[in-house]
Amino acid sequence: MSEHFDVHGGARLVGEVEVVGAKNSVLKLMAAALLAEGTTTVTNCPQILDVPLMADVLRSVGCDVVIDGDTAHITTPSELSHRADSAAMGKLRASVCVLGPLVGRLKKAVVALPGGDAIGSRPLDMHQNGLRKLGATSTIEHGCVVAEADGLHGAQIWLDFPSVGATENILMAAVLAEGTTVIDNAAREPEIVDICTMLVEMGAKIEGAGTSTLTVEGVESLHPTEHRVIGDRIVGATWAFAAAMTRGDLTVTGVNPHHLELVLEKLRLAGADVTTFDGKGFRIVQPERPRSVDFVTLPYPGFATDLQPFAVALSTVSEGTSMITENVYEARFRFIEEMVRLGADARTDGHHAVVRGVEKLSSAPVWASDIRAGAGLVLAGLCADGVTEIWDVFHIDRGYPHFVENLNRLGARIDRVATEPERS
Ligand code: UD1
Repeated sequence: MSEHFDVHGGARLVGEVEVVGAKNSVLKLMAAALLAEGTTTVTNCPQILDVPLMADVLRSVGCDVVIDGDTAHITTPSELSHRADSAAMGKLRASVCVLGPLVGRLKKAVVALPGGDAIGSRPLDMHQNGLRKLGATSTIEHGCVVAEADGLHGAQIWLDFPSVGATENILMAAVLAEGTTVIDNAAREPEIVDICTMLVEMGAKIEGAGTSTLTVEGVESLHPTEHRVIGDRIVGATWAFAAAMTRGDLTVTGVNPHHLELVLEKLRLAGADVTTFDGKGFRIVQPERPRSVDFVTLPYPGFATDLQPFAVALSTVSEGTSMITENVYEARFRFIEEMVRLGADARTDGHHAVVRGVEKLSSAPVWASDIRAGAGLVLAGLCADGVTEIWDVFHIDRGYPHFVENLNRLGARIDRVATEPERS
């Protein structure tokens, strides 16, 4: 039995909504628990499917994991298995983040190639090259990354691109390597700062978090800690776009507005009034129809690729023409076909999309292809005439805890319906 959403158009979202911990941080922090024997506690975990999936990944290598509401207790034994190839591995991208900690602790890992959103090619060459620089061999065999080292030593590593996942894996291996590792062109995302903060709490020596040069002084061992996950800036931004698109008035808490500076600036250009509350959240009011704005996706502090579907969705109902440039994932514009079903005037050419805003979208059955594209379709459905059916909503459930409940509380009308789809 599959589920779909019936999204009734014409909503104006008003009220307050709280954002919980970031999906793209919590899963890596859970993997970091592998680095220390004992019980590590991670709080402010979002209640999304990927958290129990990551717990299964950790159990498969020998951890005991208890999830109690928004808290995960991960007990890591002294003897871990180096094989992470359970079925859960293929269900999420972040599962690959056990590679660094396993190589760091055991000097050996067999890690199944990860799953995750179908948003374009997602190779692991930078992860592997980084581990090789630290002294490990790394190959892909029978669907797994295989890495092995006699011992890990510090190294100078230049990344071709500031990859989030490669930075995390190299970092988690380097904290237990002998000597100093310097990662240049490292990712600077707030989630990288979060994992560095947690690793330092565990006894690691890391400098430069949030800059493009990370310097890691290897230590003998790490100890468990208790760490609170940072608020999810992508979910926070989703609410900001939701307010702008529905000409609403939302107060969003639980997220640091400094992590959203560029996003909020773009929405101001679109005509929104935005007030920020230091470190805590923001209020966004959209008094009239949004004006068109151009967007270019880039690694942080650029405009996040994960927000590109919302940039497109906003542009479809804005006054004027927007150009959206996707620089990170080549297949991420695929969902524009679904927006066109909703009456959007949008076309793509390579990694550019041109969107001419229309006054109102028109409801139709559409299919979510990944987490953010799915959420973007929900927001578009709120701006359409009639009832938009959104299928394959399990994608949305992977990233947004209580999304429908929150939307309905804020003034939307969305029904979650369990039926079989009839695709034409
Ligand atoms: C993470 C996020 C994802 C987000 C992305 C970019 C998680 C679970 N996912 O994904 O939501 O969209 O950051 O902000 O945190 N690349 C290579 N070789 C590599 C590694 C990456 O070519 O070894 C390329 C990728 O194909 C992509 C770019 O680098 O074009 C960025 O990828 P990366 O930053 O690694 O993204 P993820 O960590 O997979």
